[in-house]
Amino acid sequence: MAADLIVGIQWGDEGKGKIVDLLAQEYDVVCRYQGGHNAGHTIVVDGKSLALHLIPSGILNPNATNIIGNGVVVSPEALIKEMEQFDDLQGRLLISDKAHLIFKYHEAIDKAKERLRGKNAIGTTGRGIGPAYADKVARQGHRVGELKDIDKLAQKIMDYFAMNEAYFKALGVETPSLEELKKELAHYRDALMPYVIDATNYLWELLALGEHKILLEGAQGTMLDIDHGTYPYVTSSNTIAAGACTGLGLAPKDIGRVIGIAKAYCTRVGNGPFPTEDFGPDGERLRRQGHEFGTTTGRPRRCGWFDAVAAKYACRLNGCDELAIMKLDVLDGFEKIKVASAYEYEGERIDYVPSDLENVTPIYVEFDGWESVAGVRRWEDLPTEAKLYIEGIEDLVETKITIISTSPDREDTIVRK
Ligand code: GDP
Ligand code: IMO
Ligand code: MG
Repeated sequence: MAADLIVGIQWGDEGKGKIVDLLAQEYDVVCRYQGGHNAGHTIVVDGKSLALHLIPSGILNPNATNIIGNGVVVSPEALIKEMEQFDDLQGRLLISDKAHLIFKYHEAIDKAKERLRGKNAIGTTGRGIGPAYADKVARQGHRVGELKDIDKLAQKIMDYFAMNEAYFKALGVETPSLEELKKELAHYRDALMPYVIDATNYLWELLALGEHKILLEGAQGTMLDIDHGTYPYVTSSNTIAAGACTGLGLAPKDIGRVIGIAKAYCTRVGNGPFPTEDFGPDGERLRRQGHEFGTTTGRPRRCGWFDAVAAKYACRLNGCDELAIMKLDVLDGFEKIKVASAYEYEGERIDYVPSDLENVTPIYVEFDGWESVAGVRRWEDLPTEAKLYIEGIEDLVETKITIISTSPDREDTIVRK
């Protein structure tokens, strides 16, 4: 049985956590394949909210196994803190021995570089994600499995500091003391090693048995992909569906249904192009009604209208079989709702995403608003205008919309057959 995949098709924070949690009730295994604790996935069940950063959003299904894949960058400190919220993780959480580690110095480098970029800052989450992936690609990173021998790992880290002394000095990053470093690593080893496995082999065995339902959970969103997003205003991993292959050791043929997650409008945290951003009262209203403040950093999210051009691009990149449209209730009470159906670019009308997205002007179509869809659980109970809005997006993006979300709660979800 192939593994199904959930992927954000905008700039992150689309509501992936809610959908993974909802679907995870029927899956046996849930895997994260990229990103790190820059992600913030919120789950709400019976009014109780839980924010996950590294632990996959299948954790509320007591029978599901949750895997942190090799493509994830793991801050041991953040993971241990997150694990402390749960008391029965043994056997329910597994960590790939090949996942790379984020250390405090990665965070210090991230923050120092953002400071130095000044007005050109990316607006990172400051979690050390970029520097950790940079070290991985430069073949000077460290993997979770290395925690087995902390003396060796500590020495390697000290050597790394010695080799990069001038660089660290310029950035104001302090060299750790060997003794302190060993103490810190021993703590990480004791807390994490019981969960560490060869996750790729484990998944291959499950796939060969063909008895388990596996769900793959993307973090961030397509427009933040290191290759296909709005570079350099992106995150440092392949956020798209293909990232699940490298980030878990799966072959393209191991992937089954791909579900793209989008909000009924758009948001972005951090800097970079966002064609449909609304700087006026509508943008402000979306932020207020949608509580658009970051799960990880608390920063206000930039808000604007649904971008059907970017969504269609994302659906093609990910091979989306279907879409979930989240937060439809946030559009409640708007008289008119805009959707970008094309862009104006270099004097022409286009319907694709150019690599310099900052140079496009959106061309909008308008839909009539509705009074309220909050909490609606059946397609038949949606107001006609809301149905027309969903069908309009479906036409523009050329992808079926099978899930519609009308509140943060797991239960307030329309599943369209
Ligand atoms: P993720 O990063 O894609 O998992 O999304 P986040 O959790 O960062 O942000 C989505 C936010 O919207 C969370 O606070 C969710 O609880 C909330 N949310 C999800 N679906 C809905 C919905 O349909 N309506 C409303 N009002 N909020 C929602
Ligand atoms: P989830 O999984 C929204 C953004 C940051 C910044 C850029 C690079 O919750 O959807 P990084 O710290 O990754 O180097 O920052 O990416 N970003 C996110 N935006 N949701 C996320 O995750 C994000 N993770 C990173 O704001 O613009
Ligand atoms: Mg989020």
